[in-house]
Amino acid sequence: MRIVGIETSCDETAIGIVADGRTVLASAVSSSLAQHGPYGGVIPEIAARAHVETIWEVFATALEEAHLSPDAIDAVAVTQGPGLPGALHIGLAFAKGLALSLDRPLIPVDHLAAHLYAAEMTDPTLKPPYVGLVVSGGHTLLCVAHADCRFELLGETKDDAVGEAFDKVAKLLGLGYPGGPVIDRLSDEGNASLVRFPRSHSKRPFDFSFSGLKTAVYHEVQKLVQGSRLKVQGGDLEPRTLNLEQQQIADIAASFQEAAIDILVTKTLKACQRTGITRVAVGGGVASNRRLRTRLGEEGTQNKLQVVFPPPPLCVDNGAMVAGLGYPLLQLGRVAPLSITSDSNLCLV
Ligand code: KG4
Ligand code: ZN
Repeated sequence: MRIVGIETSCDETAIGIVADGRTVLASAVSSSLAQHGPYGGVIPEIAARAHVETIWEVFATALEEAHLSPDAIDAVAVTQGPGLPGALHIGLAFAKGLALSLDRPLIPVDHLAAHLYAAEMTDPTLKPPYVGLVVSGGHTLLCVAHADCRFELLGETKDDAVGEAFDKVAKLLGLGYPGGPVIDRLSDEGNASLVRFPRSHSKRPFDFSFSGLKTAVYHEVQKLVQGSRLKVQGGDLEPRTLNLEQQQIADIAASFQEAAIDILVTKTLKACQRTGITRVAVGGGVASNRRLRTRLGEEGTQNKLQVVFPPPPLCVDNGAMVAGLGYPLLQLGRVAPLSITSDSNLCLV
């Protein structure tokens, strides 16, 4: 059973082809990331136009990579949401055209569930139920993944997503966009215990909050920049050129990363304790973070938990995870009519 997976929820136009929900035959990605860099964040209109321009080419690349003709595709899976509305429409319209022309079933997929399914593709011994930690640029949540591909939400962020916090702190430190990979690398050279940033814990045990941490970083920077007139405008941090030394920037980056990862690890362990589940899957762009991988890996060993991180190419937005999840969904009969619409607020159905 070969399923094509189409992903256009944000700035990656990605198409994967996966056999039997496991074997990746192709994973083609074209990113408009470079076009968003100057703005310090993804511009929805630019992302949508880039999808329109490149989606055919990405599809052709995926077919070539898999050495397949379109006829060899058995079903079409597509990200229905969550994501940028304009960007989602393009992937969905393309998927419908493909399903119609090939006369194949159309399978709508939740983007966040697909991020978690990437862990099942990585390690076939990972079986539901497992605790899922989704850490991306737009979402941070904990859930329980059940065997029937249903996801029970335990808690989510009440303000910024963790990836967004990485991006905003990087912007504040003048490190460019996206900030996660830069902070990850720079933290190697910083002293992570130099500043003890707050580990904010919201009242509900599995909800997250990162805005307090972000503001604490802002105040620390303000203290360090002499004669600064930094202001928090509209609750957001302003980009600026700092007069900080490289070492100071690395120390703040490492201390921020330590606090953010600490929050994620603590809540994930708590979710395992409360549910009695001993398996954990991590998904989303921030799952590439080396400190998160090390910390949760170590805690997993200590607490006898199976912790699965997909390899970095399966952590970022990709079509293979969408195609992969399409397989069990198809077996469960979760196909959709061609009248289906995208849902930018979808969250782990
Ligand atoms: O899942 P993703 O590719 O897109 C969304 O669905 O949001 O995640 C992108 C996010 C960005 O905020 C980026 O800064 C963050 O993932 N990210 C990282 C790392 N690599 C990407 N954050 C921390 N450490 C990393 N190594
Ligand atoms: Zn994503």
